[in-house]
Amino acid sequence: MKVFNNLSNRIYPVRESINNNLSNGMKEELKNIKEKILAEIKKINLPEEFYDLEKKYLGRKGEFTKLTKSIKDLTQEQKPIIGKLANEIKIELEEVFSNLKGNIEEGFDDLKNRINFDATIQSKKKEVGHLHPNTIIQNEVVDIFSSMGFMVLDGPELESEYYNFETLNVLSTHPARDMQDTYFIKTDKNFKKSEKLVLRTHTSAMQVRAIEEFGAPLRAIFPGKCFRNEATDASHDNTFYQLEGLMIDKNISISNLVAVMSTLLAEIFKKDVKTRLRPGYFPFVEPGFELDINCLICGGKGCSVCGDGWVELIPCGLVHPQVIKNGGLDPQEYSGFAFGMGLTRLVMMRYGINDIRLLQSGDLRFTKQF
Ligand code: PHE
Repeated sequence: MKVFNNLSNRIYPVRESINNNLSNGMKEELKNIKEKILAEIKKINLPEEFYDLEKKYLGRKGEFTKLTKSIKDLTQEQKPIIGKLANEIKIELEEVFSNLKGNIEEGFDDLKNRINFDATIQSKKKEVGHLHPNTIIQNEVVDIFSSMGFMVLDGPELESEYYNFETLNVLSTHPARDMQDTYFIKTDKNFKKSEKLVLRTHTSAMQVRAIEEFGAPLRAIFPGKCFRNEATDASHDNTFYQLEGLMIDKNISISNLVAVMSTLLAEIFKKDVKTRLRPGYFPFVEPGFELDINCLICGGKGCSVCGDGWVELIPCGLVHPQVIKNGGLDPQEYSGFAFGMGLTRLVMMRYGINDIRLLQSGDLRFTKQF
């Protein structure tokens, strides 16, 4: 030990050297404790051990915390230097601990592999879904009709026989019942005994519901799922989508119908599509038509979807006076047109899909293409 004879002269340098030693020692200690903690983390097997370790070092009475408390005994010059170092180490440790905690809370059991967790590594890409082609086209058509002032209505898929058939002039004895092979559903105690239920065979079931609800003038479309007991093939499935339209007002004629249909087709296909209008029979329209388009899959040559080069796309007509009456309006005063577009057919034409069954197959190789 050094003995100083003139203490008063020496007091400052001595303190400095003590402080120097102290600060160098602390530097070492801080670095050591950091190494120790990182080494101990690697030995952790259980989440409890992690929390114990955190407490042991970083807790209020933890070893690291205690060490940092002694920084206040350093000189004014040393304090900021060691303080900064301690702070850096503390942030680093806290980051390691918080990453680990995140991993534990996310339930990683393989804790050891997570020790060297690197937040910058790209995580596994989460797969994000997208709209089904039916929905994409439905949205497009809905936009076109909204721009023409039509409202969009939803309707029940489980429908009463009354709205699906009777209001549309298809009484139980009518031969037209055979045109739509129907799934009849057993009713339970929640339904009136007299009410027979069906999976709706067409969106026309919404016609009288809409007139009843909104009266006239009325411009509405009803997109939705329909069901028929079909023997399925490339162009028929037991579940498909239609998009019905209804316009009721004074003096509605075939010209209004043709104008709306032409606007629709021009907007959808964005090119000239050959169409033809031929007479069609539906008990709820008079006169009734079939609007066919030239098949866009085969270019009109004939294929498994169209047969003869033409695709029935939009059955339509002027609303039968009895239907207007069934909705509670006076057919002398009001007339209207209705159409029931095959939305599924439209999807197939737009994307060149040659088998309707693909749309409901749930096959990702198919759906991922849209
Ligand atoms: N609902 C008819 C069908 O599915 C189509 C249709 C709708 C016809 C509206 C005329 C008017 O076959």
